[in-house]
Parts: sequence; structure tokens; C-alpha cells
Amino acid sequence: MRGRRIVLGVTGGIAAYKTPELVRQLVKAGAEVRCLMTRAAAEFVTARALETVSGHRVLASVFDDSPAAGIDHIRLADEADLFLVAPCTAHTLARLALGLADDLVSTVALATRAPILVAPAMNVNMWEHATTQAHAEALRARGVRFVGPATGELACGWVGAGRMAEPADLVAAAMSVLGAGPLAGRRVLVTAGPTHEPVDPVRFLGNRSSGKMGYAIAEVARDLGAIVTLVSGPVALVAPAGVELVRIQMARELEAALEARWRDTDVLVMAAAVADFRPVEAADQKLDRRAGTPTLVLAANPDILAGIGRHRREEGRARPLLVGFAAETRGGEALVDRARQKLSDKGCDVVVANDVSGGAVFGEDESRIVVVTAEGADPIGPTDKRALARQLWQRLALRLA
Ligand code: C5P
Repeated sequence: MRGRRIVLGVTGGIAAYKTPELVRQLVKAGAEVRCLMTRAAAEFVTARALETVSGHRVLASVFDDSPAAGIDHIRLADEADLFLVAPCTAHTLARLALGLADDLVSTVALATRAPILVAPAMNVNMWEHATTQAHAEALRARGVRFVGPATGELACGWVGAGRMAEPADLVAAAMSVLGAGPLAGRRVLVTAGPTHEPVDPVRFLGNRSSGKMGYAIAEVARDLGAIVTLVSGPVALVAPAGVELVRIQMARELEAALEARWRDTDVLVMAAAVADFRPVEAADQKLDRRAGTPTLVLAANPDILAGIGRHRREEGRARPLLVGFAAETRGGEALVDRARQKLSDKGCDVVVANDVSGGAVFGEDESRIVVVTAEGADPIGPTDKRALARQLWQRLALRLA
């Protein structure tokens, strides 16, 4: 982000104590950071700390201006490449939505033409309140980007959505808005979730995949600047904003969705748990118990990843980088051996192995993976799936470069 000017508005939530670290990371990424703070923010973080890490005077009031010294707030608003509000309280969110300009942060938000990125942080009930949600919706509709809030323990003792996104996620989101991330301009295709292979109109063969890992991979790719398409089986997750979502049910629909897209992609991450078998034919009426116990005859589904690996080779293409997943119930060496085998069987570049013995991993927020390539095996975690996704992308971005 060398040379990019970021104006950071700090408002009065407990998460403000993390902002010196945020500024430090933004500066380390090359940005020039100017900080503004509200009066309430000063209860949680000192201007001195922000001045020390940013290297610039912190403005706390519109009347702090000294135009002669070149720090008037309108000029800051004009020169910003990005206006970041972190943490953004419910009150400031409302100010921004309504266009009030009764403090420095809301005034600069109105005066700037730079993209605005907000990181809400508040009690879960405040965040979920219909008023706050309506304000967030209004801001989104006007192009304001949101990062978080994350879910977890809140300072107020509640557990839920309301934590400010971590500094590393804020830096990634800032890079994404500035088109400066390591995946800027790259096209990324991610598959996630299970497939449902119909038995009859109401029943299906499925599996325990929650889709969380694939969704985290898609979201982090977006934050790193990629243009992301997420092809998702049936899951109970909300698609990340700014990601194109393609919904599928059956393996053969997944195959068709990929066939139409993989040649225009820089990276394909196959995190979906594709059913290996499907009922040869789905009954067109609900199977009736009174007709006796039916016998399900199964047919093999195509191995979609292996098919794309083969076509890529036959067509002499270097891209997309192909990333497969290997969920194995045997851990340790056997896990890595199976993953290596999959590299060659499926013609992919990277296999992400995870140990799912005992049903662990599925639906959990934390996991552990091993990134297996021809060069070696690289364990990551255990940590939450977003952090896994971030570390995975760090490695994939290097391979792309
Ligand atoms: O062979 P296995 O099912 O363990 O391989 C898993 C990898 O292959 C995953 O990346 C999965 O998305 C992909 N796969 C596929 N088509 C199938 C089964 C798995 O592309 N029919």
C-alpha cells in the first residue's frame, strides 16, 4: 500500500485499544495513516499512542485544525485514498447513515470522496437491533464496505456478533478496497459445502460438510483483492458480501458450474465435499414405506477435480492453480501419504489435507490442515478457519507469483 493515504477514524468502543496495533500494521504495509478520534475514543486509547505509531498528529475535534500547518480536516478528507472507521460504534454508524456531522469522524465521512470501510464493534444486541441493521443496510447500499463484526466473546460478557475484526483482517480489507492485495485482479473459484444427491423428491444422500472452510477461503480471497466466485452446495451460511454466489445441489450441477468457469480462473480451490456416488435414478414420487423396503442402486459421480486436472494438462494450460482437499479419517503420515497420492491422481498442484477422524472438523470453527505440494508438507493450525484460510492464501499467492 506504499504511498496510499488512509484516514482512520477511531470511535469510542473498547476495541479502540487495538487501534495502535492496527495503525502499526497499516504503516508496515506501506500506508500513510492519519488518525482522528472522537471524545469517547479517548477513554479507551490515547492520542499519544496513535501519534507515536502513525508519526502524525491526531485530530480530536474539528476545532483542532490549524490550516497553516496543513492539517485541516477537509484537506485530510480530500487527500484520503481510504477512510476507515475502526472501531465503529452503533452511535457513529447511525451518524454515518443519517449524514450527521456533529463530530470529526462523521464530518470527514461526509466530506470525503474516498471509499469508506467500517469495522463495527458493539454489544451483540446493539448490532442485531433493527435500527442498527437498517443503518448498516443503508450504508451498504451507498457503497460503504463493512468488515466484521466477528463473532465471539464480547467485552460486555455476552457472546455473539459484535467484536471488531482483527487488525490483520482490517489490513486485508483495506488492501482489498484499495485494489492493493496480493490477489488483486486475480480470479478465484472456490467450491464449498456438500452435495445433495436426490433419492426422491424429499430425500437425498448428503454428507456432514458445513461449508465453513470453503466460505472462509472465499472471504479471505476477496479481502486479499481477488474477484471471487463461490460455487456452494446446500449450507446454512451467508455468502460473503462482494463474492459471486452460484448455488448447486448435485455433483453434476457442480461439474457444469465449473466447466463453464474454470478456464477463466487463476485459482480453483475445491473445498466442496462432492458425493462420490449418486442414486442411479431419483424416484419421481416420494418412496412409500408400504411398497416395501427399496434398494438403492448407486452410480459413481465423475471425479470433477481429476477431470479438470486432466483437461488442463491436455490443453497445455498452466492455470488455474488447482487446489484439492483431502478429508481423511487416518491422521499422521497416512494423511500426508494419501494427500501426495491425490496430487498425482488428480493432477493438482496443492492438496489441503485434514484429519476428520471421529467426525471432528465438520462444522467446527477450528481445525488443523497440512498443505501438501510436490515440494513438501506444511502443517497449519490448529486455529480458526479464517486464520487457516489466511495462511493458506499466503502460500497460494506465493505460488501464483
Ligand atoms: O478423492 P477424494 O474425494 O478424497 O478427493 C477430494 C477432492 O476431490 C476434493 O477437493 C473434492 O472437492 C474433489 N472431488 C471432486 N469430485 C468428486 C469427489 C471429490 O472433484 N466426485
